[in-house]
Amino acid sequence: MSVINPDKSIPRHIGIIMDGNGRWAKQQGLSRIKGHRQGAETTRSIIDACQDIGIEHLTLYAFSAENWNRPETEVNALMELLEFFIEKELKTLSKKNVRLRAIGRIDELPNRTRKALKSAIEKTKNNDSWNLTLALNYSSRDEVIDAVKAFSTAAVKGTRKIENLDWERFSKYLYTKDIPDPDLIIRTSGETRLSNFLLMQSAYSEFYFTQTHWPDFTKTHLEEAVASYQRRERRFGLTGEQIEKTPAST
Ligand code: IPE
Ligand code: IPE
Ligand code: MG
Repeated sequence: MSVINPDKSIPRHIGIIMDGNGRWAKQQGLSRIKGHRQGAETTRSIIDACQDIGIEHLTLYAFSAENWNRPETEVNALMELLEFFIEKELKTLSKKNVRLRAIGRIDELPNRTRKALKSAIEKTKNNDSWNLTLALNYSSRDEVIDAVKAFSTAAVKGTRKIENLDWERFSKYLYTKDIPDPDLIIRTSGETRLSNFLLMQSAYSEFYFTQTHWPDFTKTHLEEAVASYQRRERRFGLTGEQIEKTPAST
C-alpha cells in the first residue's frame, strides 16, 4: 500500500538529481558505465511511477555542464546512452501523450545526441497530458548568464525596459520559462547539495535527500519522498497561522 496521503496535495512538479550510478556500480564490482545503464532502467520506471502518482511535471538532471570534465569514455558512453534512451522512449512518450522538453545548452551536445533530442522534442510538442524535461549540459549559472544576455540584447534594442524588470519578467528568459517551479527536489545517493541544478527555480522548493543510489531507487522510494513532502508546511514567508486559514494550502 502507498504511503501517500490521499487527502493532501501532491507536488505538481518534481525535480530529481539522479545521483549514485558510479558508486552503485563500484559496489557491485561493475564498470561505471554499467551503473549508468542500470540508472537508465530506473529512469524509465520512475517516469511511469510519476505518471501513476499524478505528478504533472518531472525534470531529470541527466548531465551537468560540469560532467564534461569526466573521462572521455564515460562522457561518450553517457551521450550514447542518452541518444538510445530518447530514441527508445519516443514511442512510449508519444503513446502516453507526453511532451518532452530539454533545458541546458542543447546546441553544445554531440551531433547525434542533439538530433535525437531535437527530433523527439519536435515530435512531442503538441502532447499535453504530461511533461518530462531533461536537464542536459545544464548549469543554473549558465542559465542565468544566457538569460541576462538575452534580456540585455532586448534592452539595447529597446524592446524591453530595464526599469520594468522584475522576477516574473526575468524568469521568461530562463530555459524553464514554460514550466512551473519545482515543488519537490529529490537527490539520491546521500549527497546533500544542488550541484548547479535549478538554483533560481528552487527558491521555495522542498528538498528530499536519500542514501539510496539511483539504480536502486524504486516507486516505493518515490512515494516516501512524496509522503515526506506532504508532511511539510510550505509557508512562503507567511506565518503558520496565516497558512492554516488558507484551505488550498493543505
Ligand atoms: C549520476 O551518477 C549520473 C551522472 C552524473 C551523469 P554519478 O555518475 O554521478 O555516480 P557517482 O556520484 O559517481 O556515484
Ligand atoms: C549532478 O551529479 C549531476 C547529475 C546528476 C546529472 P554529480 O555527481 O555530477 O555532482 P557532484 O559532482 O557530486 O556535485
Ligand atoms: Mg555523482
